[in-house]
Amino acid sequence: MNTPSLLFSPYGIKGVSLKNRIIMAPMFVGYADPDGTVSSLVLDHYREMAGSGVSMVVVENASVDPSGSGSPFILRVDHDRYISGLAQLAKTIHDQGALAFLQINHAGRYAYLRERLATSPLKTGKIVPREMTHEEIQRIVDGFAEGARRVKEAGFDGVEIHGGTGYLIVQFLSPRTNHRTDAYGGALENRMRFALQVTDAVLEAVGKDYPVGYRFGDGHCIPFRDGRDL
Ligand SMILES: Cc1cc2nc3c(=O)[nH]c(=O)nc-3n(C[C@H](O)[C@H](O)[C@H](O)COP(=O)(O)O)c2cc1C
Repeated sequence: MNTPSLLFSPYGIKGVSLKNRIIMAPMFVGYADPDGTVSSLVLDHYREMAGSGVSMVVVENASVDPSGSGSPFILRVDHDRYISGLAQLAKTIHDQGALAFLQINHAGRYAYLRERLATSPLKTGKIVPREMTHEEIQRIVDGFAEGARRVKEAGFDGVEIHGGTGYLIVQFLSPRTNHRTDAYGGALENRMRFALQVTDAVLEAVGKDYPVGYRFGDGHCIPFRDGRDL
């Protein structure tokens, strides 16, 4: 007798029930409108992805602050005006029988803007970003919390914090990109501070029963010679 494959057996995450263990990883495709709203192309793309049989789609990274988009065609969650489009997106995925999470992010030194905020002023391409003040750090922490609230309000089943791909959270964690001498730099406990503040603020904003994921990645998007040394 054949035993059912574990891959196709149900699984539960904090109150949500996945019909199998196949999940679509977040993947930026650049289909958002240039102001970061959900476009018809975004809906078409995720309708097809959700209809593929996966139990859950983690929608690509969406920016939590106007300073945080890696491209003009990245989804945004930094204002209530984005909620209605995101609600359409969550419904489109649900209509195909899949659960929907949305990933929230700040690109830091990899934002597409000329004036960039970063942990430390390290030259990125031709641009030297500005080191974030404590007020700006707090604004971005609040942005993650508000973004997560909007994700929940839009009807997504959970939210994922983007702690990978060399973006702002990694820029704080890594000694390669964090040269600060204040409470956010130096020892690991200090370099972790921003990630922990973001996580605490998100949990506080969405409540203890709402699923919150954290994608951890050690890549910096810096050549291997001295990258990835978290
Ligand atoms: C075009 C592209 C866009 C991506 N966008 C995201 C993203 O928004 N968030 C994220 O966490 N990972 C993103 N990734 C990483 C993927 O989720 C995945 O981890 C990576 O492609 C490695 O998976 P693989 O080994 O199956 O190729 C992206 C990857 C690609 C190729």
